[in-house]
Amino acid sequence: MATGQKLMRAIRVFEFGGPDVLKFQSDVAVPIPKDHQVLIKVHACGVNPVDTYIRSGTYSRKPPLPYTPGSDVAGVIEAVGENVSAFKKGDRVFTAGTISGGYAEFAVAADDTVYALPEKLDFQQGAALGVPYFTAYRALLHRARGKAGESVLVHGASGGVGLAACQIARAYGLKVLGTAGTEEGKNIVLRNGAHEVFNHREVNYIDKIKKSVGEKGIDIILEMLANVNLSNDLNLLSYGGRVIIVGSRGPIEINPRDTMAKETSIIGVALYSSTKEEFQQFAAALQAGMEVGWLKPVIGSQYPLEKAVQAHENIIHSSGATGKMILLMS
Ligand SMILES: NC(=O)c1ccc[n+]([C@@H]2O[C@H](COP(=O)([O-])OP(=O)(O)OC[C@H]3O[C@@H](n4cnc5c(N)ncnc54)[C@H](OP(=O)(O)O)[C@@H]3O)[C@@H](O)[C@H]2O)c1
Repeated sequence: MATGQKLMRAIRVFEFGGPDVLKFQSDVAVPIPKDHQVLIKVHACGVNPVDTYIRSGTYSRKPPLPYTPGSDVAGVIEAVGENVSAFKKGDRVFTAGTISGGYAEFAVAADDTVYALPEKLDFQQGAALGVPYFTAYRALLHRARGKAGESVLVHGASGGVGLAACQIARAYGLKVLGTAGTEEGKNIVLRNGAHEVFNHREVNYIDKIKKSVGEKGIDIILEMLANVNLSNDLNLLSYGGRVIIVGSRGPIEINPRDTMAKETSIIGVALYSSTKEEFQQFAAALQAGMEVGWLKPVIGSQYPLEKAVQAHENIIHSSGATGKMILLMS
C-alpha cells in the first residue's frame, strides 16, 4: 500500500461462515476518527458469543463485508476527531461498541459510547466490562426490576455476563445463587458474590436448588441458556417471579400453564435496545462499582489477536468458563 496511511494488525472477515473466516492481516489501514469520534489504541478486546453469531451470518444484525469483529475494547486514546471535548490523547478508556471493530490494534468509537477506565482496573479487565456488565445491569435492574432482599439465580454464572450479574446482584442486596459447569467455575462464582453455587452439569442439580430455596422459590432467574433450562426455570420461580432470557441457542418446549398459578413472567433482554440515556445511566452505576470496589471483572482465557479463530471455537465449545474471554493485542 503506497497511500502513506498508517497500517495495523487486525482480524478481517470477507465472508460469513465458520471460525476460519476470521483472517489475520498486518496491513489494514488505521481508521481516522471523524466528528465526535475517538481513535483508541486497543490493548485488549473482549470476545463475546454474539461475535460468533454475527460472523456465522445467521444473526439478525449483519455488518457489510468486509468487517472487523469486536465491540468491547479497552485501551488508550490515540487521537480525537473534531468536537470531542471529553477525551484527550493518553486517556485510559473502555467501550461497549466500536465503529471500526475491536479485534484490531486501533479502533474508532463514537465519543458518547466511550468511558473512562479507572487506574485500579487493568486493560484486560476493561475489555471485560462492555457487553457483559451493561447486559447484566440491564437484565437485573431494568428488565427484572430486582430489589434488595429478593433472590436471584444466575443460571450460567461462570462466564462474562454471569459473573458480572453475581457482583451487581450482591452489591444491590439480593440473595445470589449461581451455577457453573466445573469445580473451578463454581469456586470463582462463589468468590464473586454468590451465596450458593450449583453445578449445571450434575443430573440432579435442579432438585438441589429446589431444596435450597424451599416452597417460596426464586424471585428472579437470569438465564444464559434458555433453550436448555426454561422449562425447569418456570418451576423454580416464586409467586410473581420472572425469568429474564439473556441467552438462548435454539427452541425449547414449555408448558405455558407453568406460568399461571404463580403469575410468573418470561422477559427477554437485548442490550442494544438500550437508549443512549440508559447506557449513560448503566455506565454511572458501573463506574460507582469500580470506584467503591465491588466491580472487579474476572478474566478467563486469553488469546493473542492471531488466535482469534481458536477463541471463537472455544467460546462456543467451552470446557468450562472461568471468567471473561479476552483477545490481547500485543
Ligand atoms: N441478550 C443480550 O443482550 C445478551 C448480551 C450478552 C450476552 N448474551 C448471551 O448470553 C449468553 C452468555 O453470555 P456470556 O458472555 O456470559 O458467555 P460465556 O462467557 O461464554 O459464558 C457462558 C455461560 O453459560 C454457562 N452454561 C453452559 N452450559 C449451561 C447450562 N446448561 N445451563 C446454564 N448455563 C450454562 C457457562 O457455564 P460453564 O462454562 O461453567 O459450563 C457459562 O457460565 C450467551 O448466549 C450470549 O450470547 C446476550
